[in-house]
Amino acid sequence: MKLSTRYLGLELRNPLVMSASPLSSNMENLRACDEHGIGAVVFQSLFEEQIQNEMDMMLDKDDMYFWYPEAAELVKEITGDQMIRPYLKRIETAKKEVSMPVIASINCHSAGSWTAFAKQIEDAGADALELNIATHLPYEDEMDDRTIEQIQSDIVRAVKKQTSIPVAVKMGPYYTNIIRAARKLTDAGADGLVLFNRFYQPDIDIEKIALGSDNYMSAPEEMLQSLRWIGILSPQLTCDFAASTGIHSYEQVIKQLLAGATVTQICTTLYKRGFDYIPWILEDLRGWMKEKGYASVDEFRGIIADDRLSSPKFEQIQFIRKNTVLD
Ligand SMILES: Cc1cc2nc3c(=O)[nH]c(=O)nc-3n(C[C@H](O)[C@H](O)[C@H](O)COP(=O)(O)O)c2cc1C
Repeated sequence: MKLSTRYLGLELRNPLVMSASPLSSNMENLRACDEHGIGAVVFQSLFEEQIQNEMDMMLDKDDMYFWYPEAAELVKEITGDQMIRPYLKRIETAKKEVSMPVIASINCHSAGSWTAFAKQIEDAGADALELNIATHLPYEDEMDDRTIEQIQSDIVRAVKKQTSIPVAVKMGPYYTNIIRAARKLTDAGADGLVLFNRFYQPDIDIEKIALGSDNYMSAPEEMLQSLRWIGILSPQLTCDFAASTGIHSYEQVIKQLLAGATVTQICTTLYKRGFDYIPWILEDLRGWMKEKGYASVDEFRGIIADDRLSSPKFEQIQFIRKNTVLD
């Protein structure tokens, strides 16, 4: 039974990817994921601001000491205390110690000079880079949809100029026209799209009468939003698709693959059930494939989205009266 999957040009042993979170921020967890058979892992994101700050510090020092023969050593020392070097070091160590592909991640919102950092990620050995650019919500009325799409595709173009490793974009669900936004990202060079990022959602505590939120973990029903859009987008765009948010079980993995996902990303379920859950999902996926007579994941990927009769149903947004259980 062949679970192996090609994602972003990388050979994955199966379509299960650990999504970006602090779970990937130590080697012990990365080794455990590898041993439990995950297909690939996405590192917790560095933030554009972190990268930019450290680069600016380097530049300031460089201005003062650029003529100094030890300048390069000095720059190394300065950055050694910060976030970037440990991040790069962890990529290097992971590449030596684990067999699964390692995908770096950057949370970003502009095509600034930080994009040069993509080359360092490549040099550290990352197999791919995921850009979380779901940070644009139009809070000002002059921020229109096309401006947001332009900023996002400019980021992809700038990053692609700096690196030759594959780049995926983790999108949010809020667009005036997701199809146009997705197409612009792939036109700009995105090799894959991750649908969707799960936003922090503010909530109100009525005891304290204050704003806050402890809603960090997803619920399984949240998966339906990406299922719809992967079903709609996968027949239209040639890039890879990673389904993310609300995938807690092997059934949901299968549904996303049937809708056209190349891989599925999991986070909350690993927090709740631990890495031991990975082989269970894979075993149940194999069991379902055996029962249905599929020898490989490629045989059934996208068959629901590609079916001309069922695919329009992904677009349906109104309940049809005679079908509702509330009648
Ligand atoms: C504690 C925590 C930290 C996260 N950190 C990141 C991050 O650094 N970068 C990122 O792109 N997504 C981050 N995410 C989002 C997850 O990668 C994922 O998209 C989201 O949790 C939805 O997937 P799930 O339903 O499987 O949890 C984080 C999620 C959690 C719960």
